[in-house]
Amino acid sequence: MILLYLKFLTRRKPWLSTGNYSLIEHEYDAIVIGAGGAGLRAAFGLAEAGFNTACITKLFPTRSHTVAAQGGINAALGNMTEDDWRWHMYDTVKGSDWLGDQDAIHYMCREAPQTIIELEHFGVPFSRTREGKIYQRALGGQSLKYGEGGQAYRCAAAADRTGHALLHTLYGQSLRHNTNFFIEYFALDLIMQDGNCVGVIALSMEDGTLHRFRAHKTVLATGGYGRAYFSCTSAHTCSGDGNAMVARAGLPLQDLEFVQFHPTGIYGAGCLISEGCRGEGGYLLNNEGERFMERYAPTAKDLASRDVVSRSMTIEIREGRGVGSEKDHIYLQLSHLPPEVIQERLPGISETAAIFSGVDVSKEPIPVLPTVHYNSSGGIPTKFTGEVVTVDENGQDKVVPGLYAAGEAACVSVHGANRLGANSLLDIVVFGRACAYHIKDNLKPGEPHKVIPEDAGLKSIDRNASGSESPSNIRLDMQRLCNPMLRIQESLREGVQKMREIYNRFANVGIQDRSMIWNSNLIETLELRNLLQCAIQTLVSAAARTESRGAHTREDYPERDDHAWMKHTLSFQEDVSSPEIMLKYRDVINTTLDEQECKPIPPVKRIY
Ligand code: FUM
Repeated sequence: MILLYLKFLTRRKPWLSTGNYSLIEHEYDAIVIGAGGAGLRAAFGLAEAGFNTACITKLFPTRSHTVAAQGGINAALGNMTEDDWRWHMYDTVKGSDWLGDQDAIHYMCREAPQTIIELEHFGVPFSRTREGKIYQRALGGQSLKYGEGGQAYRCAAAADRTGHALLHTLYGQSLRHNTNFFIEYFALDLIMQDGNCVGVIALSMEDGTLHRFRAHKTVLATGGYGRAYFSCTSAHTCSGDGNAMVARAGLPLQDLEFVQFHPTGIYGAGCLISEGCRGEGGYLLNNEGERFMERYAPTAKDLASRDVVSRSMTIEIREGRGVGSEKDHIYLQLSHLPPEVIQERLPGISETAAIFSGVDVSKEPIPVLPTVHYNSSGGIPTKFTGEVVTVDENGQDKVVPGLYAAGEAACVSVHGANRLGANSLLDIVVFGRACAYHIKDNLKPGEPHKVIPEDAGLKSIDRNASGSESPSNIRLDMQRLCNPMLRIQESLREGVQKMREIYNRFANVGIQDRSMIWNSNLIETLELRNLLQCAIQTLVSAAARTESRGAHTREDYPERDDHAWMKHTLSFQEDVSSPEIMLKYRDVINTTLDEQECKPIPPVKRIY
């Protein structure tokens, strides 16, 4: 018995221990973790509804990664071309390669037009048409009349800085509604009691104090984990913090294998060059000066969905038609566009291209390469209400009381196997708001909190890990391993094995800095732990899925297999000190919210 107990202690030994640090207690009706578009929309929706709401964020809100979104936000406003939200829904289901849940897609596309008007009324400075309407540009995978009627101009834009405009506006609304901000607080773990989420433990980065936030409802809006990859468009802060907290709470993540590569990251730097460039008339060229997308997607060409364009570019490079001395990238041509289009619609990317590739876009093409861009095809599984779900012992969906998720951290799933450009800004505001709506209908402001044990949430905190492994070495090895876009069984099997080894090195990690104030060594180590959890679950999920669907491209299984694989992957990490992952599966929802309003869209082969 004693031996068993000792074994348990050794196995579960936290790499962090609490120590005698000050713990400060807080109580709120609701808390939101993250202050990007989804977090802010949820937070001020709750504050506006009368809830005492805290928004806990590791960044100053307007530095959240939403700020980097460029191209725009989709909605069937019909300002430039005739449009209908059902056509948007059709494109989104098709874009998802039939892995998206159609009830959630129905909800998002139907809500989109009034959501944009709401944003406009909040103050988002959208670009305008000559008549003064909101400007909408073409973007990938957007069609008219259920794919029969040509290119839709559906993407509402504020030049190529739409995320910047949106985020600043939402922050203004949050202040207007008296949201309580805890800025530069790093969320460490969820507090779970009898399967319910009752709050979160966070670390104030400014002074090292620990804070226990009690809440009836906790909304995770912590963004993606692009930084598990060597080359990505994501900010350094995109470290999957919410995903990892959910995994540590014994809950599943969903569909992590569908990692989106954006076709046009700047070669060598990874910075995003918006799909809006191709929406405004730009195109891709190989080393023969050929517009090769005409061969891969004869109708949509450069505006096929991202997975299709990224895959085509990778094939061009692999077959020796890449540009540059190493023939290892592709050109994005913009210099034929009228100067006023570049100045008015693409000022941000012109500056980015000049800084990061030394290119004047009015004269030369930009060197680009498919680059990891987005994770929310997979993430924390939720219903379209934002409620987090898991499965019970019979494989049935079960809501996790008290816990919500929205934005890139969540998997609603509206993007399925591949997200369409400009559906992410839409996702974050629609589902951030949906969390606030659902909480409003299910909680009264000011309800008392139940008593929790003294040590609730405090079990896994230690700042003094003193092993010999440097976090930055582990991180680099993980990033290099994760990067390939095309996958085969051998490389995946080997990848999983190598990732397990990298994961295990973390048990021997060392934090050199012992200070309480702005200990970036500690924060980067905590972020690394989160990234490792996301990375191992991604690789194990990818190795198991023996088909190609959307962003998941298997060279050994090139076809989509609806019979075996039209289902969501759920990955569980029972014991986070070990890289062992258990997989379960969950049905795709292929019914709409209301069949009178729109019928489900049956699967067909995806052609652009
Ligand atoms: O290309 C872009 O502007 C990116 C848009 C998006 O990811 O939604």
